[in-house]
Amino acid sequence: MGRLVVVSNRVGPLKDTGRAGGLAVALVDALTKTGGIWFGWSGNVSEEGSFGQLQRQKTKSVQMVQIDMTKADYDAFYAGYANRTLWPVLHYRLDLADFDRRFEQGYRYVNERFATRLRPLVEPDDVIWVHDYHFLTMAASLRSMDVRNPLAFFLHIPFPAPEILAALPNAASIVRAMMAYDLLGFQSERDADNFRRFAIEEIGATDIGDGKVRFGNHETIARAYPIGIDAEAFAKFAMSPDARRHMTRLDKLMGGRQQIIGVDRIDYSKGLPERFRAYERLLEDYPENRGRLSLMQIAPPSRAELNAYIEIRRELDEMTGHVNGRFADLDWTPIRFLTKSFPRRALAGIYRVSRIGLVTPLRDGMNLVAKEYIAAQRAEDPGVLVLSRFAGAAEGMKEAVIVNPHSAEEVAAGIQSAITMPLDERRDRWQSMFERLCRDDAIAWSNAIMKDVMAVHR
Ligand code: UDP
Ligand code: G6P
Repeated sequence: MGRLVVVSNRVGPLKDTGRAGGLAVALVDALTKTGGIWFGWSGNVSEEGSFGQLQRQKTKSVQMVQIDMTKADYDAFYAGYANRTLWPVLHYRLDLADFDRRFEQGYRYVNERFATRLRPLVEPDDVIWVHDYHFLTMAASLRSMDVRNPLAFFLHIPFPAPEILAALPNAASIVRAMMAYDLLGFQSERDADNFRRFAIEEIGATDIGDGKVRFGNHETIARAYPIGIDAEAFAKFAMSPDARRHMTRLDKLMGGRQQIIGVDRIDYSKGLPERFRAYERLLEDYPENRGRLSLMQIAPPSRAELNAYIEIRRELDEMTGHVNGRFADLDWTPIRFLTKSFPRRALAGIYRVSRIGLVTPLRDGMNLVAKEYIAAQRAEDPGVLVLSRFAGAAEGMKEAVIVNPHSAEEVAAGIQSAITMPLDERRDRWQSMFERLCRDDAIAWSNAIMKDVMAVHR
């Protein structure tokens, strides 16, 4: 295999700066080990946009190549189709989706433009690996430019049931364009199955078994490749000086009390209002926790110019005020809501001193925080993960306390069972999950995809 050419909307950073988002974190873990090119948006909006200079930066084995977008591209492609159409639809939130023909046109245009700028960088032996919902139609553009390299794609977010996706105007055309990839990777078996069903029922693709579908005379692998983290490295983060500093500060603050930790971008898919309600319910139903168990929610703002995100932020501010007003005492604040981001080393320390990791998205492709929480625990006295059944992570983390995030009562009961769980049981559950995380790590994930894309391309 030649070089790896990775394409994603966000590129880097390779350093642990605390910019939140599972995609970038996972790719840093995979790409720094294999080396190659990482191509995508610079994060800047300029007049020249994608017609401007390529911005190159070489860090160890990875060459980062970035381009700008124009304001019009940003509005239609990123703020429009990607984040106001695809993101809600793929997270099963048709109620929040905006359908606007100009968004879709802008989206297809940016896919085409990015492909045009990528084309001259590609060498014959390269494997091209495109990521996430921003670039569903890029393979079709690349093939029309006579790119013959193996083309893999990985979707970091859910792929919804065909009944949901059918509501997206031109969904069939988007899925036909996706069939130009040689391999389509999904986070869970359910997502892969949803894709194959849509392809078969709506565009007339043929199921040829073993997770493959044929459309015209082209075969595509559409399978689940659940994303992993570098669990051993993350466990070491939890013992780093940065982690220790945060642990000491928190230990002092907690004064022997226990803490639940939540870490999520402020996003309606993460079930944060439902989570705050569940915590309030816990304090009502199990009053022995009052004064003893607090919730720390780290919540970096995300896509903050979009209405749905402004709304949810306001709702969370209000709920924090409400719960704290109702239950706080002289020396105890029930919810600490921190709307900023932390480097992953700091998070590792924060996870380690937290008795419960609370991960309750309404829908999530995988959720790396769930995996990181487990990787950061002390083997001799591990905390407990309370995990939504609607996170992709739930497929491979059956030893977590699995809950329905829509039910405040069930989540409260889940937290209560975690807080009262005997040490032996906590250790057993943690051990199984940690071993699996070490085995199914970020490298195993990218190797599996590379192996399969090479095989099907041949
Ligand atoms: N993250 C971070 N700093 C923060 C909050 C989150 O570095 O303050 C990282 C976190 O460690 C994780 C990623 O951002 O690796 C979030 O990934 P996840 O899959 O949980 O959610 P996403 O944001 O991709 O929806
Ligand atoms: C999720 C998506 C990524 C995205 C990240 C942050 O992890 O899967 O593709 O980069 O959220 O969102 P943003 O819109 O800031 O890139």
